[in-house]
Amino acid sequence: MKLSDVRKKYLDFFEKKGHKIVPSASLLPENDPTTLFTGSGMQPMVQYLLGQAHPLGKRITNSQTCFRAQDIDEVGDNRHTTFFEMLGNWSLGDYFKEEQIGWIFEFLTKEIRLDPNKLFVTVFRGNESLGIPRDSESVELWKKAFAEVGIDAVDVDFSERDGMQSGRIFYFDETKNWWSRSGVPENMPVGEPGGPDSEMFWDFGEELKLHENSRFKDEQCHVNCDCGRFLEIGNNVFMQYKKTETGFEALPNKNVDFGGGLERITAAINNTPDIFLIDAFDQARKEIESIIGKKYNDNDDFKFNFRVILDHIRASVFLIADGVTPSNKDQGYFVRRLIRRAVRFGHKLEIQDFFCSQIAQSLIDAYKNNYPKLEKQTKIILDKLNEEEKKFLKTLSKGEREFEKIFSEHGKISGQDAFLLYATFGFPLELTEEMAQEKGQKIDKQIFSEEFGKHQNLSRAGSTEKFIGGLADHSTETVKLHTATHMLNQALRIVLGDHVFQRGSNITHQRLRFDFSHPDRLTDEQIKQVESIVNENIQKNLPVHFEILDLETAKQKGAIGVFDDKYAQLGGKIKVYFIGESFSKEVCGGPHVENTGELGRFKIQKEESVGSGVRRIKASLN
Ligand code: SER
Repeated sequence: MKLSDVRKKYLDFFEKKGHKIVPSASLLPENDPTTLFTGSGMQPMVQYLLGQAHPLGKRITNSQTCFRAQDIDEVGDNRHTTFFEMLGNWSLGDYFKEEQIGWIFEFLTKEIRLDPNKLFVTVFRGNESLGIPRDSESVELWKKAFAEVGIDAVDVDFSERDGMQSGRIFYFDETKNWWSRSGVPENMPVGEPGGPDSEMFWDFGEELKLHENSRFKDEQCHVNCDCGRFLEIGNNVFMQYKKTETGFEALPNKNVDFGGGLERITAAINNTPDIFLIDAFDQARKEIESIIGKKYNDNDDFKFNFRVILDHIRASVFLIADGVTPSNKDQGYFVRRLIRRAVRFGHKLEIQDFFCSQIAQSLIDAYKNNYPKLEKQTKIILDKLNEEEKKFLKTLSKGEREFEKIFSEHGKISGQDAFLLYATFGFPLELTEEMAQEKGQKIDKQIFSEEFGKHQNLSRAGSTEKFIGGLADHSTETVKLHTATHMLNQALRIVLGDHVFQRGSNITHQRLRFDFSHPDRLTDEQIKQVESIVNENIQKNLPVHFEILDLETAKQKGAIGVFDDKYAQLGGKIKVYFIGESFSKEVCGGPHVENTGELGRFKIQKEESVGSGVRRIKASLN
């Protein structure tokens, strides 16, 4: 059965049960500053679960596109993806456990004919200290449903040691059978809705656990273990609580939030434990096979690489269609990471040419009937993928050159060097390791992680300290004004002389404020000159880039700025930003725009004195 058939059957089934079908919301949440992506079907529904009336009533059904950035490193096995579709049916204060368990069982076993003998379920075992009872009500309902198909469903408490215990219904604690956007009860912020849940699993058969390479073959199996035998295909959340200062209170309504992985359910119907074998990936998989002249099934390493490429490109296609552009910030950062990882895994399969857009086109074709926006935006999607792939290949070759340079100078590559390659060129550690290995060397990963940790602490300190490096925030406007400040600094030095040094800087998203050493008021003529130097260089579309240099080299290259700026320090070296080849070179922690062309028109609003020998300029961009 095809992915689109399963989606349709599900939506039709719940429509017949009185639900209104709503389209998927964007992957970029609206009005939800707490998260970058829609990661569950529940996110766009939160306000209704909290009690607001839904314009279409109390029964809603949908297939929501989701992106879980946190799963990126899990991708490669037979079932994890960053992007997926979540089938959802919602009771907003209408039906509850009885209908939900009855209907979903009917859907799975009658509508799409999954064998009930291969279905297993879990329920919440209760937690006295939270005041949430054991969910024996759901257990009774499951028993009844199974009994109707002649199965005596035994309920047992989960035990790591005893495994399956011939059970069909398992009680687990809140780490497994509780759902909220922020996970377990103790992590939920006050006001957050959540509740106990009951999950369903499909059994692909013992051979998956027992095959000879399985590290699980001597362990007790259970539905939540990682051996690959059981696949979670759906989750009934009984959303009925709200977190308070002291514990939980009942929500105004008892709600149901069912979420089922569309790809996983399709995999179960086709009895293939590998979700990358469902029809939506067929064409894209074949494209990769034809590029490399080898088959997906040839060996397990191949599969891993294929899966990363398939998942990451599919996620990028949908994210770009929802308006994300690869960049260094926010959502854009994740798309950049997805594309770069896909290219890197392509590299492992020895793909030489550009390939992302070819794979993307096959995925667009597979999904366009259900997601017409993909077809409409094909050009944008393919262009962005191509651009990013090109950029990354440049990064790779720059990194490779730098690697060779370091190696020939020092005769080895240290953990610190590996970090510098990573921080400066975005050159992945794994590649550094591979290249080192070719030279018979090993990278000290411990040192790499220490450097990484130091850098992270620094940037964390950076983001909590207000006005760090003079920046109020890292919004686009603020970043633009930051680049403009470097240009202003340089223009002042050209017009007034080399005695001009920065004495202070404070940038918000509306204006920059720059204090500098200079004894006299600026004449109108000087102000005009400074403005036109900045504007001329904006119009030249100068690229902005940084280099990580040691102190001496930075000075030799004529960089200006505060050389002990802690935000510009990286592994004993400093970061210097260049605007154009040589228009401006300044020690700085960033961030900056990529090209001066992004800045618009620069205008000085005010020039005044702030004490002896220091002048202040306020300026804006529009
Ligand atoms: N919110 C639940 C989940 O994401 C069910 O939709 O698993």
